[in-house]
Amino acid sequence: MSKPRGVFVAGNWKMNHGPAAARAFLDGLARLGFPSDAVRRASGGRALQSAVLVPAVSLEVARASVAQHGWSDLLQVGSQNTHFEASGAFTGEVSAPLLKEIGIELSLVGHSERRQHFGETDESAGKRTASLLSQGFEVILCIGETRPEREAGQTEAVLSRQLGEVFRAAGAWMKSKGLEFSRTHWARLTLAYEPVWAIGTGLTATPEQAQEAHAFIRQWLRGAGTAGGAAAGALSVPPAETTAILYGGSVTPENFAGLLACPDVDGGLVGGASLKPESFLKLIETGAQAI
Ligand code: PGA
Repeated sequence: MSKPRGVFVAGNWKMNHGPAAARAFLDGLARLGFPSDAVRRASGGRALQSAVLVPAVSLEVARASVAQHGWSDLLQVGSQNTHFEASGAFTGEVSAPLLKEIGIELSLVGHSERRQHFGETDESAGKRTASLLSQGFEVILCIGETRPEREAGQTEAVLSRQLGEVFRAAGAWMKSKGLEFSRTHWARLTLAYEPVWAIGTGLTATPEQAQEAHAFIRQWLRGAGTAGGAAAGALSVPPAETTAILYGGSVTPENFAGLLACPDVDGGLVGGASLKPESFLKLIETGAQAI
């Protein structure tokens, strides 16, 4: 099997693992033999990319612990959300410059839990994405439909709408700063398709369902990226063929290989199964084998 865009395994710890637990998790990975030769080999040239997205209070400890283990090129530490402004009156938020100060340059954006519980929208996700990319961050941007939307046969309509609104807002943010998206910006963007009905429910999308949605997203990018599409929507979008699309929603060490066998699934964004070093390690090993 070969994966043209490599494989990205990202663990989303959500509101779990404070500093002590974060350190224990990383020490646990080391005790289990991370990184194996296969993982080290696959991580060269970044064919395999691995990351943990940790609570804000654990970022500094996790980053330091990764460095102490000598894994800075093997395992990234990222934020679960990051504001688009650099500083100011935004209680409870962190910004890119604040994160850079502690060596963090990767962030998740637009997770469905941020949308569901904290009022985030495609527009705010688009602004965050643009701001972060322009500041040298890597971004994992999440989209996905809810269960009623899927049951009503609206999956593709919802994905189109989300992609359109996110990239419209991202483009507007760049324009407001006198900037334009370049290949270098887009090379730092990863998309994550996370059907909301599959998150934390144990109801994983089948490989067929995942492939169908991922292929649709790639097709949408192809269309929007053409001269006609761009002129119609005045949109700048990431390149369809090189942008990785991760699947998220009840990924486990048992179902990950089947998902990775799909041509348009380029990795996994994993919640529950990323919380224990044993299962996270299995996911990374599965990723290495799929390359
Ligand atoms: P889950 O979460 O793997 O626990 O379903 C995935 C996510 O929300 O990113």
